[in-house]
Amino acid sequence: MAPTTPMSRRPSPEAAASPAIRRKLGVVLVDPLPVVRAGISLLVDGRPVSACTTLAFEVRDRSVMTIEGLADGGKLHPLQEAFIEYGGFQCGFCTPGMILAAKALLDENPNPSEDELKHFMHGNICRCTGYKKIIESIMAAAKKMRAGY
Ligand code: FES
Repeated sequence: MAPTTPMSRRPSPEAAASPAIRRKLGVVLVDPLPVVRAGISLLVDGRPVSACTTLAFEVRDRSVMTIEGLADGGKLHPLQEAFIEYGGFQCGFCTPGMILAAKALLDENPNPSEDELKHFMHGNICRCTGYKKIIESIMAAAKKMRAGY
């Protein structure tokens, strides 16, 4: 039988942020294709990052948001509502990353053109379907947010 090593509860500096966040917040983070931002699951100080390629020490004392923090109590964020209403909601791997990346974009640019939206979202990959409904969802949410939802 191999000897066992005691596990520290404190992440090592080179540990990815996602396990520490899972433990601390009790949320599920998905990062199926981290290199292409398929599963961006975090906003760090409002900027989208890939959770599994972000190190734990990089998010220390910084604002970290997961998809779970987007709704206001029981009220969904306009992006979440639009993804449901316009069919942009797809699977649990890509959708959290799409929505959080869209939030980062709309926080920075509340009235993006479709080209600006496509450029900003270009690293968010869904291998299964298309992007038409995702783009429609984000544009609809942007319009709703500009109107003060
Ligand atoms: S990766 Fe989510 S639907 Fe394709």
